Amino acid sequence: MKEVKIEICIRSLQYEELNETDRKLIDMAKEATHRSYVPYSHFSVGAAALLENGKIITGTNQENAAYPSGICAERTTLFYANSEYPDQAVDTLAIAARSQSGYLDRPIPPCGACRQVLLETEQRYGKPMRILLYSKNEIYLVNGTKDLLPLSFGGEFLD
Ligand code: THU
Repeated sequence: MKEVKIEICIRSLQYEELNETDRKLIDMAKEATHRSYVPYSHFSVGAAALLENGKIITGTNQENAAYPSGICAERTTLFYANSEYPDQAVDTLAIAARSQSGYLDRPIPPCGACRQVLLETEQRYGKPMRILLYSKNEIYLVNGTKDLLPLSFGGEFLD
């Protein structure tokens, strides 16, 4: 028997430690939470994607009475960015979430389905995507999906 250990690296930063662009992305993700459609969960998620050409696309979670028909903020944002600007890699994705009692105390981790879509977007453009996960107390900076979805399944297995 052999153990396989996979190391991941996540940096914890304070808002003040972020550069101006990352602060703006966090601000825009927070602001986007106010445009979510969440009549069922009352859990508002916002995301802001910085594209290689400098454009910033925001998106939110959109729910549906038939629950699985809704979609997370991360996928709304990436699918919209990829639809409008199919030739632009996503440089950074910032995510923020708010429950009825306010912004979260712990950085919001994207769900499994969204991680898979983040991976596909990275692989599509051949460039790691930086990911910023906001909370009131700290912000996680992840340098790419390898640190968010280790042992991932991607298109390379289908060759
Ligand atoms: N949600 C997101 O938008 N992103 C995540 O990373 C986690 C969950 C949404 C889905 C649903 O509308 C609500 O949050 C509660 O799960």
